Amino acid sequence: MTQIASNLRLGAENLLMNCAGVRSGQSLLVIAEDPACGMYGEGLADAIADVARDLGCDVTVTVLPFDPGQADNSDDILASMEPHDQTVFLHRVGDQLRFSSVLASKRPIVCYALDREMLASGFGQTDHDAMIELKNLVNRALAGAQDIHLTCPLGTDVRGGRAQFPNSGSDTSVVRFPQSVFTPVPGSGFRGTVAQAGFLVGTGSNYYDPYGVELRDTLFIAFEDERITGFDGSAEDVAAARKHYCHVADQLGIDPWVMHSWHAGIHPGCAFKDSAGASLERWSGGAFGNPRLLHFHTCGNYAPGEISLNIVDPTVLIDGVPVWQEGRFFPGRLAGGEELLDRYEQLGALFRAPAQEIGLSANGRLQFEA
Ligand SMILES: [Fe+2]
Repeated sequence: MTQIASNLRLGAENLLMNCAGVRSGQSLLVIAEDPACGMYGEGLADAIADVARDLGCDVTVTVLPFDPGQADNSDDILASMEPHDQTVFLHRVGDQLRFSSVLASKRPIVCYALDREMLASGFGQTDHDAMIELKNLVNRALAGAQDIHLTCPLGTDVRGGRAQFPNSGSDTSVVRFPQSVFTPVPGSGFRGTVAQAGFLVGTGSNYYDPYGVELRDTLFIAFEDERITGFDGSAEDVAAARKHYCHVADQLGIDPWVMHSWHAGIHPGCAFKDSAGASLERWSGGAFGNPRLLHFHTCGNYAPGEISLNIVDPTVLIDGVPVWQEGRFFPGRLAGGEELLDRYEQLGALFRAPAQEIGLSANGRLQFEA
């Protein structure tokens, strides 16, 4: 076995055993997107299926093309899941259904490791339980805070009180693998300005056209509670943003001016090696778990909204403590964080040398064009 094969196996075992909880004798369905669609890499589904068979599972792999409207016609997919103990989506339709109630009883896995390299890296290998514990530590800190203050080098300045998480239930109907964000913090109780460079892009919820629009300079989006209250920046960018919000909202019949919620990446192994502009769809589905990125869900009164605003290198002060500092996440500054890093050595090591690649262009910014 080569080193890469061995790392890939460890990533797949983490997905299957620690996250999906599959056991010998169970039946597993893998719903995979055709690699020709450009989202998931070649050989990823086969690698996961091979490891599952080695674990004693009966595995079915279904390869489907990507159809942007599929989530609205998901009866066939749901029916195909029925006879199996567990389902793993290597397909965007799983991501599209992540906040939908139809999958809530099944709790399938959606894999955000988009290719074999990502699954074989620290992103795929870090114990799933460690990431769940880390997510919970962040949620607890945000829910108990008096003052949360977000800033970024481009001028984001957003402030609010404690995170007013909904009282019950999980934040998604699917289980994410790897777990790489905390629960979205509602916009309610927050106000300020978000500085956005490069582009406005979709969230993976619906695929509309155009999926992204270019921003030539920094656009400032002001909001209060859950309402966007204004745009500031170059006349060209302000006009492009207004037009895009209205266009997307009209297409989908939703309220454009919603600032629904925000969250940041918590996974130090999440590396995205292409530039964002090379494929905005792939970038928005693969890079967000890196702590150098924090995003807002806007346009539409639901998570994840339809337009995301992406902040690079955020600082997040929780009651004055810089838990994120210029894009670096310090879990040791959370209650229970040091102890968690001691218990999960691999996670501790990753946080000492976190992945830096998040799809920035040569000028160090997010850009619309590759
Ligand atoms: Fe999100």
